[in-house]
Amino acid sequence: RQNARESLYIILNFAKNYYQHQLHHSDEGQAIGLSYFRERGFTSEIRKKFELGYSLDNWDSFSKEALEKGYSAEILERAGLLIHKEGSHTAGYDRFRGRVIFPIHNIAGKTIAFGARILKTDKNQPKYLNSPETEVYHKSEVLYGIYQAKNAIRQLEHCYLVEGYTDVISLHQAGIENVVASSGTSLTVEQIRLIGRFTPNITILYDGDMAGIKAALRGLDLVLEEGLNVNVVLFPDNEDPDSYVRRVGAEAFKAHLKSASKDFITFKTEILLQDAGNDPFKLAAVIQEVVNSIVKIPDAIKRQVFFHRTSEMMRVDEQMLITEGNKLLRKQH
Ligand code: GTP
Ligand code: MN
Ligand code: MN
Ligand code: MN
Ligand code: MN
Repeated sequence: RQNARESLYIILNFAKNYYQHQLHHSDEGQAIGLSYFRERGFTSEIRKKFELGYSLDNWDSFSKEALEKGYSAEILERAGLLIHKEGSHTAGYDRFRGRVIFPIHNIAGKTIAFGARILKTDKNQPKYLNSPETEVYHKSEVLYGIYQAKNAIRQLEHCYLVEGYTDVISLHQAGIENVVASSGTSLTVEQIRLIGRFTPNITILYDGDMAGIKAALRGLDLVLEEGLNVNVVLFPDNEDPDSYVRRVGAEAFKAHLKSASKDFITFKTEILLQDAGNDPFKLAAVIQEVVNSIVKIPDAIKRQVFFHRTSEMMRVDEQMLITEGNKLLRKQH
């Protein structure tokens, strides 16, 4: 087993170097991949830090090179790099073709998978293509950027959680290094525990669209259940951290993180109150929803603090909130 995984790390590292080389040294990579990254404002330093690459737009240039170097078709397939159709007489074809490449690293910095972005939007193709699950890549347990972020997270005792690869990279470029992405999966308990190894403090920075808000509401409950502390920063409509930092610049972005950061109760009530208006039944439902989140917190002292806060914010009796919360807590057990 150990050897099987070791040989996957070796081929994945070979692939990472190959894609990096194509980006910087092939005509096609320079003309298409490099100019794409430059247009997005990614400097050569940041491209190196994240080991970005490019996969040529043909069926087999990567696998041909790997086979020539002595890697077997079988190991390429197990690494998720080669797609082999059952019964076909050929070795197979490259999974990643004509895309810019984002290597995904484990906590020790080894390449374990790739995310690959199409260059032009095309309705018939997914924007991002990812490695499949392999012996070394369990996507529900991985956070994009954890290797590059872990020291900063520990030092600053705080982690920003974003949706995408490019959000992580743009924030690094703006000098914010304590940031990771759940990248293409909805946030999992394993991912939260991974952050929890470095800090108990998480701020969710999801995209400013309906999907992002919904994911933030779900994510904050999950973080609370794991006993960690969570805040949320909302971005203007249809902006994500990457587009926003590029538009307003690093300093204004950092100011926004400070001024727009909300504790989960403030965030949740503001979102839910938007369509409650003055309807007392809807207001009651909002309060109920907030209590639902508070009872997810394992620590009784923190729960008490948030009951108090909710009673002040919503102008309702604190003891009543605690009684309702206790009913729910008993049901949970
Ligand atoms: P850009 O358009 O390059 O700025 O990417 P983005 O990160 O802003 O993309 P988006 O907000 O649409 O999605 C967030 C993350 O979800 C991406 O970084 C990917 O990890 C993932 N994702 C988005 N689209 C797809 C897709 O079509 N397939 C898969 N597997 N993952 C996707
Ligand atoms: Mn596993
Ligand atoms: Mn989005
Ligand atoms: Mn984006
Ligand atoms: Mn986005």
